[in-house]
Amino acid sequence: MINIIFILKKIKLKINIINSNIMKTKKIIWLLFFLFYFIFPNNLLSQIPQEFKERRERLMENFSSESIIMFKGSSETSGNGDVNDNFYYLTGLENPDCILFLSPGRKIYIREKREYVKELILVPPQNIQREIWNGARLGPEGVMEELGFESSLPNTEYENYFRNLLFQADTLFFEYSPLSLDKPLTRELEIIKKAKERLYKFETASINNNKIIQLREIKSSSEIELIKKAIEITRQAHKNIMKEARPGMYEYELEAILEYTFKKNGARRNGFPPIIGSGPFSCILHYNKNDRKTNSGELVVIDIGAEYKMYSADITRTIPISGKFSQRQKEIYNIVLKAHDEAISLIKPGIRKNEIHNKAVDIISDGLVNLGLIKDKKEYRKYYMHGTSHPIGLDVHDPSVSRILKPGMIITIEPGIYIREENLGIRIEDDVLVTETGYEILSKGTPVTIEEIENLMDR
Ligand code: GLY
Ligand code: MN
Repeated sequence: MINIIFILKKIKLKINIINSNIMKTKKIIWLLFFLFYFIFPNNLLSQIPQEFKERRERLMENFSSESIIMFKGSSETSGNGDVNDNFYYLTGLENPDCILFLSPGRKIYIREKREYVKELILVPPQNIQREIWNGARLGPEGVMEELGFESSLPNTEYENYFRNLLFQADTLFFEYSPLSLDKPLTRELEIIKKAKERLYKFETASINNNKIIQLREIKSSSEIELIKKAIEITRQAHKNIMKEARPGMYEYELEAILEYTFKKNGARRNGFPPIIGSGPFSCILHYNKNDRKTNSGELVVIDIGAEYKMYSADITRTIPISGKFSQRQKEIYNIVLKAHDEAISLIKPGIRKNEIHNKAVDIISDGLVNLGLIKDKKEYRKYYMHGTSHPIGLDVHDPSVSRILKPGMIITIEPGIYIREENLGIRIEDDVLVTETGYEILSKGTPVTIEEIENLMDR
């Protein structure tokens, strides 16, 4: 009997130990889960659905209470990759034919669902027949579950829903300019026109995009991570091109190296058409035919940017196709590099964007005078005819309204000199994050000095 009690006690003790081990394991799993989701920056992506919702909420703070805001995504017919950036910024949806309605003040009544809501998204319904051709999509239920929309309906009875919303609004804001109700009308404009004819009492107004641009200008930590990834892939492509470039190669062969590097590393698209301009075409700012055969001794301007999960990088390097710069090329290159370095060194919150441009212009025009290419500094535009900087983000030329820099902005610095009479164009471009106290060059590590480029191209 004592033996049995003893054995039972032992079993209980064992069970307790197992239980406490299970508890410990559970705690470790939770800790790992926590680390995985909240600490490792690579998983910032998982925060994005919540972030899209917060963006919609922040946008609504800027509108009057009786208005309705409408945003339309790309349309099915507009082709792949043609996404409305503002729509994507607010929804996270790349799918075609979706429409977002926001009600900043009182809630709108959705008759079909018998509920009052602040946001409604119309999306194409799930359709087995179509999925055979194009694959599965998040339907109305899916966007609510996966992307956190408050309310969603299939876009098939769009006209009824839309009319019902117009009935409840005093102003409808939407992204059209000019706001003309003349023909040819899109489907929405047709509905708006009919509603007005039926004496619905609402005004139409073009949404002031500045309100979204102010949000888009300041990148969140998850956006910064995505842009860093696009930059890292672009940096790698530049290095691969430098390693493999040889005189006699066609510009498109250099392009093939970047295409491979981009796709191999998860960037499915270019943020903009790649510019690979050799010899005379190094002086064509947005050249993208990329079909010329390079000759020994020439420079090649390589202005490229991977797009990673909708965010674009933009890095330019100018390389000597033979691996070594000539004396003349070095002379010009170092003026552009000085303009680039000094313009970057000014970057900090509060500085005006035109001060940065003026600094680059000042150095370049001094250099041009010293070389005897111009007599008066004011003539610099003959050789430097573009801006020094632009924001990047969902678009490679992301929109911007601020004249001064603020923490969280990401901008390019891209001075250049283009001497057409010598077939000699040089541009150097890096991507820079404005921090609380200054700046961080996100594209650092892409060979940029003459020595760094020649070392990598040494063969
Ligand atoms: N990367 C092309 C441009 O900035 O215009
Ligand atoms: Mn650029």
